[in-house]
Amino acid sequence: MLIQRGVLSGFQVFGRLLVLFLLISSPLSANEHSLDTALVLADILRAARSEIASQQPTINNDLIGDKGLSGEVIQQRVIARLQEAGKAERLSNPANDVEAQLIEAQLQSILEIIDENQPLINKEGIGFKGFVPAVFAQLTNERFGEKVGTIAEIKVTAPIELVRNRKARPDKWERNVIETRFKSETWSKGQLYSDEAEGKNGSAFRVMVPEYYGDACLACHGGPKGEVDVTGYPKEGGQAGDLGGSISITLYK
Ligand code: HEC
Repeated sequence: MLIQRGVLSGFQVFGRLLVLFLLISSPLSANEHSLDTALVLADILRAARSEIASQQPTINNDLIGDKGLSGEVIQQRVIARLQEAGKAERLSNPANDVEAQLIEAQLQSILEIIDENQPLINKEGIGFKGFVPAVFAQLTNERFGEKVGTIAEIKVTAPIELVRNRKARPDKWERNVIETRFKSETWSKGQLYSDEAEGKNGSAFRVMVPEYYGDACLACHGGPKGEVDVTGYPKEGGQAGDLGGSISITLYK
């Protein structure tokens, strides 16, 4: 009997392993869940910006009044874009109630911002209207914050020296991720960063997705540095492939 002391039965071993597994895996899977939710929101944002980018020639056409680009039309086109990219699964099958609520709030924000900007979009006699993807994204993200800001935030931020809109300035955590991770020589391009950290409404799971300039961005963010772009901002002097900003998603606990 003495010899047997300290020796665990198969059941005991299994029980302990199970407890250990649950201890290790439950916080992890909660964060994995959150990461997936954050990436769905980032996908919707990107699809929506791409849609507004592809509509620029129509939006900036000075000869047509009604462009037929209602909030509902744009919302449907964003969903269609996600479907084409094979990224719409979570829209019809959200992982949980919170994710469902956030997706709904984001799609609704897109619809509202487009509807509210109909007078601008449909204005005859002016070409460039300044309703560029970044402006649309900023407005949509603000609206999202008004709806569900205690649960989640979506923001597009940038390295501090590149920030155009003061509201897009990185907070301390975002700035740190940009400076110490995304700008690091050893960071693999495109890799996201996520961590538990404080957001302005408390402790959160936070995700940063880096964004790089492509050729299409350089008309405004390229060179010569300081020359004013079509939107009235001085160009940053960026080059294709340079870090231009980051999508920042905050999911409160
Ligand atoms: C037609 C000009 C134009 C083009 C093209 C353009 N941007 Fe911008 N970008 C802007 C303007 C204007 C703002 C400021 C929006 C605002 O007022 O909120 C901005 C803001 C941003 C921001 C948010 C941070 C900030 O500075 O306020 C990022 C990040 C960004 N742009 C990246 C890009 C990338 C990446 C591309 C290419 C995919 C791109 N931009 C293409 C004009 C442009």
